[in-house]
Amino acid sequence: MTVSRRDLLKMGLMAGPGLSLPRLAEAQIPDPSSPPIVPFVRPMPIPPVLSTVPGPPGQDNYSITQTEGFANIIPGRPTPIWGYNGIYPGPTIRARAGDSARRVVITQTNLLSESVAVHLHGGHVSPSNDGHPTQDLIPTGTQRPFDYPNTQLPATLWYHDHAVDVTGPHMYLGLTGFYITGDNFEDMLNLPTGTHDVPVMITDRVFNRDGSFAYPLTEDALVRGIMGDRILVNGVIQPFFSVTRRKWRFRILNASNARVYDFRLSNGQPFIQLGSDGGLLTAPVTRTVLRLAPAERADVVIDFTNLPTGTQVYLRNSNRQIPIWLDRAPRDVLRFDVGNTASDNSVVPSSLRPVETLPAEVRTRDFLLTRGVQNGRTVWFINGLLFDPARIDANPTDGEVEVWRFINNSNVNHPMHIHLVQFQILDINGVPPGPGEAGWKDTVNVPAGQTARVKARFAGFTGTYVFHCHILEHEDHAMMAQFQVTP
Ligand code: C2O
Ligand code: CU
Ligand code: CU
Repeated sequence: MTVSRRDLLKMGLMAGPGLSLPRLAEAQIPDPSSPPIVPFVRPMPIPPVLSTVPGPPGQDNYSITQTEGFANIIPGRPTPIWGYNGIYPGPTIRARAGDSARRVVITQTNLLSESVAVHLHGGHVSPSNDGHPTQDLIPTGTQRPFDYPNTQLPATLWYHDHAVDVTGPHMYLGLTGFYITGDNFEDMLNLPTGTHDVPVMITDRVFNRDGSFAYPLTEDALVRGIMGDRILVNGVIQPFFSVTRRKWRFRILNASNARVYDFRLSNGQPFIQLGSDGGLLTAPVTRTVLRLAPAERADVVIDFTNLPTGTQVYLRNSNRQIPIWLDRAPRDVLRFDVGNTASDNSVVPSSLRPVETLPAEVRTRDFLLTRGVQNGRTVWFINGLLFDPARIDANPTDGEVEVWRFINNSNVNHPMHIHLVQFQILDINGVPPGPGEAGWKDTVNVPAGQTARVKARFAGFTGTYVFHCHILEHEDHAMMAQFQVTP
């Protein structure tokens, strides 16, 4: 299967600067009503937790093979995917971090038809283990280990493809998985755990009639990113999830290529947010709306204790984007079916983990985000430049704190992601973040025309890392740059 190449060719044929949006929708988005989907009849799958394999002692050894496979998404129409161990989403890795860190070494074998790179998103890892888009490519038929020390605070991380120029199609085909870490401190908080700690990966897709994923990389998609009319939760369109009447913890990840979600519960009940991208907040935050841009995570508790057995609650996306008249994605993405009463010894304590106050910055760097045109097609600039692996765009000194300003001088949002670090959002257009965004973050959504300031300590490893927009069609075309941490 060479879906990505075929689609890349197709997009070249299809794209044209003169096409208006409604014509694009008619001509290029495969009939979204064709797959016969009955919503809320399939249970939400939970990606399997990966088991260790024999290997050197004192660390957890894993082996993942990247292969083609088929996903059962639309009845009777198997969807060809690229998957970690051939499944979508990939297997979940559960690791120990922080005060009880254990090294994880994953041997990745590439049996796909193109080179891949594997990145641990949010991970504090050495440059050679970061999955650099050009330096760390794994050619077809080869393998290499990735070494993750897990010395950072526990968090909801994820791993995904990062191959230069084709990260969008590769991830769209399925190369995404959870990497969730915990430590003794967090265990002692007695949050919901085990089967009551559930990863939830949200993605959107366009399907061809035969059930395959369509990747219509039109000119419009270069501008806004690929947005699907079907929303998948852990790889299934509109599943249900049976819960008992107690507190449940959900690690919600927006792994979509471009779509931003505003999640609410249909009964108006709030989420109790415990954490964001880089770990726990100082204290839980009660929120009725959770906005998640691509790559962002929210670690939340939903308390079903007081809902009568038989209650159905929808996880609802109230964010309509792309031209609103084209957005045919349903609002309700997941249904919780409330079952029987259950014992619940878990608690949501009034304070979680103090978030460090970073010292004053030694410098501020500015990154201007703009749109450009090259060969008649949209490209995306950081400080007027496209990604060039031979160029270093910033060189922080190991251990120093910097403020980075992302100045969005374009008419679409850009969720900006920095490798290596977890940062803190200082403000967006001068407005400090709400308490749910005040913790450790690795991705900040910079709305159209606005400026975000983030503060981070660049420390622990020296060498070259990338930072980029996490709308994958922007990243691939070529909204990415490099920083080099120097001793
Ligand atoms: Cu999740 Cu560089 O990416
Ligand atoms: Cu990353
Ligand atoms: Cu962008």
